[in-house]
Amino acid sequence: MREVVATANANVALAKYWGKRDHALNLPYTGSLSITLSGLTTTARATFISGQSEDRIVLEGLEADEAEARRFRGFLDLIRSTAGIQARAEVAITSNFPVAAGLASSASTFAALTVAATRAAGLSLSSEHLSLLARRGSGSAARSIHGGYVEWLAGEASDGSDSKAVQVAQPDYWSIGVVIAVTDEGRKRVGSRAGMEHVVKHSPFFPQWLESHDADLEAIRQAIQDRDLKRVGETAEHNCLKMHAISMAARPSILYWRPATVAVIQRVAELRHQGIEAYFTIDAGPQVKVLCLQHQRALVAEEIGRVAGVQRVLLSGPGGGARVVEGA
Ligand code: DP6
Repeated sequence: MREVVATANANVALAKYWGKRDHALNLPYTGSLSITLSGLTTTARATFISGQSEDRIVLEGLEADEAEARRFRGFLDLIRSTAGIQARAEVAITSNFPVAAGLASSASTFAALTVAATRAAGLSLSSEHLSLLARRGSGSAARSIHGGYVEWLAGEASDGSDSKAVQVAQPDYWSIGVVIAVTDEGRKRVGSRAGMEHVVKHSPFFPQWLESHDADLEAIRQAIQDRDLKRVGETAEHNCLKMHAISMAARPSILYWRPATVAVIQRVAELRHQGIEAYFTIDAGPQVKVLCLQHQRALVAEEIGRVAGVQRVLLSGPGGGARVVEGA
């Protein structure tokens, strides 16, 4: 059968997904809203080969370990059952940014794989259907199917049929700058999957997170429509600090930050004081993403790059959705 190659970009959540109401189906308690990031790209190659006894998964050039392979096989089973095929797959994934370090590589990985593998299996699905499927691989992957500003609707159905992402605005509706400060390139100790499960069960503040989340989500959605960086930025910072606060307050505690993470947070506050609009957000890892005006992106990157402990900075902004690049 034919090989299909697809790409998808990572995304950064402004109103975060943190807590599942259903683990098997990756159904969130709340909606979330993100920016799909240009230049932080994962490429997935997929082919289904009849006669092969098992799926073969290669991640960044290395054969996947048993736990990783199981997750991918479960996901490929879903695609096989949607397509009505039995054949096992050959899958190869590569990303051009540090993986598993809080830069949402699972989002771009499963979004790219959803597009490559469904097409390789002979399916031609709507972006809505692709988002529903990508969600099953990794929740945040539902959002990386689309470009620009994207909201994942929590949905209410117990089978997850209404829990999918939709585009809120095209990438060029509002080209803000996103500067990513890499403070630690190593693998994170607690992945988002385990982290959010722990926090739901063991943080005394999880109920407050749920109560206050929709207000953040609505404020950010509206502020994007208004192209209001101050409102988007202040609300995203607040939402991020709440996510990390409830995680730190869990027993045992989860702390994703490194000293340089805090140093960047402080530098961002100083930049604002100097009149440069900049706002931070942090996902389940030590890296900091800084939102700024597009024309000040290089300046912000230079300032952030000078903070002690920052290993490198990546420049990004709103990017496109997942797409087939070869073998369509
Ligand atoms: C902190 O989507 O990686 O980045 O659904 O278990 O694969 P799984 O989790 P994942 O979690 C992302 C969490 C986050 C916030 C966000 O992206 O909204």
